[in-house]
Amino acid sequence: MRIDVVSIFPEYLRVLNLSLLGKAQEAGLIEIHVHDLRDYTFDRHKTVDDTPYGGGAGMVMKPEPWALALKEVLDASPVKEPTLIVPTPSGEVFSQPAAHKLAQVEHLVFACGRYEGIDERMFHWAREHFEVRLLSLGDYVLNGGEVAALAMIESVGRLVPGVVGNPDSLVEESHSEDGLLEYPVYTKPSSWRGYDVPEVLLSGDHAKIAAWRREQQEERTRRRRPDLWTKRQDMA
Ligand code: 6GU
Repeated sequence: MRIDVVSIFPEYLRVLNLSLLGKAQEAGLIEIHVHDLRDYTFDRHKTVDDTPYGGGAGMVMKPEPWALALKEVLDASPVKEPTLIVPTPSGEVFSQPAAHKLAQVEHLVFACGRYEGIDERMFHWAREHFEVRLLSLGDYVLNGGEVAALAMIESVGRLVPGVVGNPDSLVEESHSEDGLLEYPVYTKPSSWRGYDVPEVLLSGDHAKIAAWRREQQEERTRRRRPDLWTKRQDMA
């Protein structure tokens, strides 16, 4: 998989070289390229924004630097129509099923906006060349798309075959197919500061352990995420 990120803060994306995704890049499973939007400006101040037509607070990102940066990314693309993800709180909410779908895509491009957003005409232009998706992390506001892009790249990247060493660890996790949160986990010692590991986990009875874990998943989901619990009841 190839991933390109365009941002006015390329340093923000440096963490992609750490940990699992850093190793995935070294192994050649994922190739990540970060671009500085200001490299696609021509004035002395490298201006990427301007005041909004119609008035109002804040600044709007100019479309031309985006078109120039994205055109360069397009020219280097291994595919005809890459997917352009624009992280924005006014997008569709990103989810685990969305991450699974994006993990199948050969070339993902992230356009990290700042300020009050990008001139709407950039989206019209982009739709001529990309499959464009506006995605939000949830109902709260960040200062820019970078942190959201990092979150999405990590959740998608770990689903690319070979990135997570043991693929079993992708099966039993919160928000996987069954719509339940994960069960609680414990490690040694079996007694710690007066807190004991639940007896059943020490029993060696695999059927009983599986049943207990399932109950815990259901109980947690009901209590912490009544919205998920209701959705699950409705599907049954
Ligand atoms: Cl994707 N971007 C920004 N700027 N804020 C957000 C978000 C995205 N998702 C939640 N808040």
